[in-house]
Amino acid sequence: MRRATLAQGPALASEAVTDAAEPARARLDAATAGLEPPFAVVDLDAFDANAADLLRRAGGKPVRLASKSVRVRALIERALGAGLQGILAFTLPEALWLAGHGHDDVVVAYPTADRAALRELAMGGGGGGRDRIHERVTVMVDSREHLDAIRAAGASAAAPVRVCLDVDAGWWPLGGRGPRIGTKRSPLHTPAAAAALAREIAARPELVLDGLMSYEAHIAGLGDRPPGRLGALAGAAIAGMQSASGRELAARRAEVVAAVSAVAPLRFVNGGGTGSVERTAAEAAVTEVAAGSGLFAPTLFDAYRSFTARPAALFALPVVRRPSAGVATVLGGGYLASGAAGGDRLPRPVLPAGLRLDRQEGAGEVQTPVTGEAARALRVGDRVWFRHAKAGELCERFDAVHLIRGGAVVETVPTYRGEGMTFL
Ligand SMILES: Cc1ncc(COP(=O)(O)O)c(C=O)c1O
Repeated sequence: MRRATLAQGPALASEAVTDAAEPARARLDAATAGLEPPFAVVDLDAFDANAADLLRRAGGKPVRLASKSVRVRALIERALGAGLQGILAFTLPEALWLAGHGHDDVVVAYPTADRAALRELAMGGGGGGRDRIHERVTVMVDSREHLDAIRAAGASAAAPVRVCLDVDAGWWPLGGRGPRIGTKRSPLHTPAAAAALAREIAARPELVLDGLMSYEAHIAGLGDRPPGRLGALAGAAIAGMQSASGRELAARRAEVVAAVSAVAPLRFVNGGGTGSVERTAAEAAVTEVAAGSGLFAPTLFDAYRSFTARPAALFALPVVRRPSAGVATVLGGGYLASGAAGGDRLPRPVLPAGLRLDRQEGAGEVQTPVTGEAARALRVGDRVWFRHAKAGELCERFDAVHLIRGGAVVETVPTYRGEGMTFL
């Protein structure tokens, strides 16, 4: 597996034992010497470099920020300040909250069944920074039931609700009769199905068709350089699947966009994610790409051939006991990532370099033993630095993140959780 190395500049973390690992560890330990672990940090140098790299990879197309992959308002604002445009939110209450904080152009990436939030949207907000909220927040739909829920919430032609069509980006190599590759999301797959729902939207005065989204998770969120003994083989198979699916999707997406645009004009066509930025941005029918994970660069995003992001988010846990000479046990650590359970969802101890999780215990609810050569030198009170497997989920574990620039903590900012906002 290719590793995110410390040789790329002041990046902070690697499980590989390199000459740069000890200075990186010393820098992190020194910058946070006044803090008591557990705590989380974001390295602003790496974060900013990652933001610039996402924009470079998009080749001039706008990059919409997937907020679920950040979940820290100050860092969302930082990414937007760096040039990302608009927010792809993960729940409607989150989108309303962000709009209340002054954000415009917030698209909720997943359908909602939240009647209270839909009512608030349908009523157009009403003061406290939520004025004309129906013009600033767009909700995702893929079926008539979603349209009916908006109508039932009281939407009217006086303040129509903006909707975005979610179109399946999966690959059906045998035309629907065989396996379907991709995530199980929208039932809309064909241009005809998308156009039919677009006509239904156009016929309802309380709705405005705003955009179209089709997210190719099996390309954008699946690394083609997986770790492990069979990694090379699996990587080749994944890359083959992705390029065949990518070709089919590009052709179908163009047809879908043409069919839907014939019904009503589209303000945006969104696709992609961190793992597919350049590929998706290259499609003429796509007007913007989405990305978020590439900012924090969690471990699952080490496994791509087409780009290397710098690990920006880490968390530190204190060594609290030494069960034996070769094992050090840290407090906490069981911060597992969502998805199909497997070793790749576990957090990874990265500094000091050369640590491993214990096979029997993994990452524990309250205690996590680490082994490996470097464990021998650890003492009670030392820190072990970890990376999470995914991006924003880390922030559900901490009220705040400490922002590091160079060798110092320059600011401490609340996560969504720290603001009392746990949306999922
Ligand atoms: C709809 C949608 N778009 C884009 C993304 C890409 O986000 P990221 O760049 O954080 O992987 C996701 C992630 O799950 C998503 O669900």
